[in-house]
Amino acid sequence: MPLDHLHFQGLRNLPAVTWQPGAHVNLIFGDNGSGKTSLLEGLHILGMGRSFRTRQLKHAITHDQDALTLFGRLTGDPALPLGVERRRDSDGLSVRVAGEKIDRIAELARHLPMQLINPDAFRLIEGAPAARREFLDWGVFYVYPDFFDVWRRVRRSLKHRNALLRHDRIDEQSLALWSRELARWSDRLDAMRNDWMAHFSGVFSATLAELIDLPDLSLRYYRGWDRNRPLEEILLEGVATDRQMKFTQQGPQRADIRLRMGRYPAAEVLSRGQQKLVVSAMKLAQGRLLEQKDRHRCLYLIDDLAAELDEQHRRAFCRLLEQMNCQTFLTGIEPASLEGHWHVDTDVKRFHVKQGRLANMPTAR
Ligand SMILES: Nc1ncnc2c1ncn2[C@@H]1O[C@H](COP(=O)(O)OP(=O)(O)OP(=O)(O)O)[C@@H](O)[C@H]1O
Ligand SMILES: [Mg+2]
Repeated sequence: MPLDHLHFQGLRNLPAVTWQPGAHVNLIFGDNGSGKTSLLEGLHILGMGRSFRTRQLKHAITHDQDALTLFGRLTGDPALPLGVERRRDSDGLSVRVAGEKIDRIAELARHLPMQLINPDAFRLIEGAPAARREFLDWGVFYVYPDFFDVWRRVRRSLKHRNALLRHDRIDEQSLALWSRELARWSDRLDAMRNDWMAHFSGVFSATLAELIDLPDLSLRYYRGWDRNRPLEEILLEGVATDRQMKFTQQGPQRADIRLRMGRYPAAEVLSRGQQKLVVSAMKLAQGRLLEQKDRHRCLYLIDDLAAELDEQHRRAFCRLLEQMNCQTFLTGIEPASLEGHWHVDTDVKRFHVKQGRLANMPTAR
């Protein structure tokens, strides 16, 4: 479901802003420092409960304001209002869905799946496995209803096992119990991740081929422990090393998606633009798979599309987005960087932001 009404207050350099985005493509233009990324950041906080720019949400609150308040309405019958608030004088985020206060961000995220593609996209390839694990679990979360519960159980058993490993005198019985518990839930988590990956791989390859010609690029799921041995056995045998290191060495907390170009790690050989296109294909494939598996449509935040991409690849990217029929917010400095890529029948709405003030722009045809 698309968002049809938004109201942001106390966000970065933006004065209170109310806007009615279009259901399909929304283009946001403006000079450096005008507030384009801040608008996308507001949407990200509204859907995910966190920013992609800072770990501390208080930094997103306008300097002289007491709070950041974001409101969005998802179309539907009935429409679904979503709201988040972060006050400067308290730590937590207060979240409301349909007027009801909720405790878990996961409940908010379930209503508004979103993917961000920005100039940091290459980090998904070059960075630590944690980002790829998050990418993987994003997909699994929306497709398997019991993912969140299983993931919480894995995290809980891991926490208990690691706490026991840090003790000087080990409680063997408790350690065996938590190792068994960890292995049991890890197998469940691995089965979901593995199954998701099997579906995802095909959608990804097709999407990548529509964006860029990289036939040697492959993705492989690594579950975090030896493919041929049960985790319980590994945990029992590895107690001595785990005790030395004071934490559990193997398990789903080490899972990863490994990207290769033929024989080489993709991070070592791909150019920046190629990396952005591979990450874009991964993120667009997430949305495509979600469309196939679930009635949800993914919302896309594309910050500075033109960065690193030439005209031909920008065009291919926009064509894919347009075919997916999902709500999209794209930013650019120059209108020319995003114009001319859309089919005449595509619903494109244009906005201009100047020193934090947002205005509708006339249709460019
Ligand atoms: N907490 C804050 N309070 C007030 N202003 C802020 C705050 N944090 C950042 N700013 C300002 O907000 C402005 C908008 O930043 P933003 O990153 O959204 O711009 P942008 O349009 O994306 O620019 P660019 O094209 O350079 O990416 C900047 O001028 C920045 O200094
Ligand atoms: Mg920006």
